[in-house]
Amino acid sequence: MLARLQEDWTNDVFDFTPLESVVRLSDPGRPDKPELVSPKDLPRRRLGSPEGHAALMHSVAHIEFNAINLALDAMYRFQDMPKNYYFDWLGVAGEESFHFQMIREHLAHLGYEYGDFPAHNGLWMTTFETDHDPLVRMALVPRTLEARGLDVTPPMIQKLRSIGDKRGVEILKILLRDEIGHVEVGTRWFRYLCEQQNLNPFEQFQFIIETYHHGDLKGPFNYEARQEAGFSDEEINWLKTLS
Ligand SMILES: [Fe+2]
Repeated sequence: MLARLQEDWTNDVFDFTPLESVVRLSDPGRPDKPELVSPKDLPRRRLGSPEGHAALMHSVAHIEFNAINLALDAMYRFQDMPKNYYFDWLGVAGEESFHFQMIREHLAHLGYEYGDFPAHNGLWMTTFETDHDPLVRMALVPRTLEARGLDVTPPMIQKLRSIGDKRGVEILKILLRDEIGHVEVGTRWFRYLCEQQNLNPFEQFQFIIETYHHGDLKGPFNYEARQEAGFSDEEINWLKTLS
């Protein structure tokens, strides 16, 4: 599916005709495993054991797998965006697929495969809950959930370094670099939609978080990465009051 879209784009035959109907997807299609469980039923990941190490990499693999679906859904669902919007999200989907393959390979070196551990469905649920409005989607999926990845990846890199997983460190650095770009894509289209609707982006972002986000925004935040991903000074200062 992704390869086909990429090919169509490269050959300049990508079909921009709006679809007659766009359906809600409570399940975007995924392999039989991993088993999906509630976040509280996930085993704690302790890096001390080989199994804990693999479980951590597995959780990253699961995020990357979901991220492919999130990017493709952003293309499918919102039909009247400018052409560059589709180009951006197709690019994100391609990078997420590359991330997933890298992690899966690394996981195989550790003796495990994707599906060997349970996982939770939070990323897709938020995607599903934000399928009515691209403004809400951009605020909550790239700018909140994916942006969280910017905060938690550096400490994860430290942990992997401490157990001598050089390849893991290398992969997470690539992920962090690319994810800044993905959050930036979300920021850019969020601002675009605010401008279209004459909304103040800062107030709107706060409003959407308060209305739709389950729980509070939690720090510590990676301010530098968030700034690179397009968070405004006003937003950064607000995050500082939360952490
Ligand atoms: Fe990714």
